[in-house]
Amino acid sequence: APPGRHEAEDALISRGAVESNHPGFSGRGFVNLDNTVGSHVEWTVDAPAAGTRSLSFRFANGTTTARPMDVSVNGGPPVSVNFPSTGTWPAWQTITISAVLRAGANTVRATSATANGGPNLDYLDL
Ligand code: GCU
Ligand code: CA
Repeated sequence: APPGRHEAEDALISRGAVESNHPGFSGRGFVNLDNTVGSHVEWTVDAPAAGTRSLSFRFANGTTTARPMDVSVNGGPPVSVNFPSTGTWPAWQTITISAVLRAGANTVRATSATANGGPNLDYLDL
């Protein structure tokens, strides 16, 4: 895996499961979050220096309805990220956002914002 790849299945998972029944994932599988508000994945990522970085989430959403998530860095104010339909569950796409990180360890938590839950999450790259 490239440096900076953080598999969702290795992150902290609250109300979700590691699964592998839809192909195309990286690593050992992906996280299927429970379809409920508040289910989340939290990655801990290391930054060599403080500053603005790109965070890329690989995801799949096999429904026709977007699945917004609230993304919070180091417990700060959540930013809403809309994860659109990818058509089918084995169709993976990437969404990139910018976030300010501090030097050293940072947490990145993505929390399902609606009762539909989040998309299936494969990894976070930065
Ligand atoms: C299906 C699919 C899961 C997905 C779920 C959902 O069950 O197989 O991978 O997480 O739908 O709607 O969230
Ligand atoms: Ca799900």
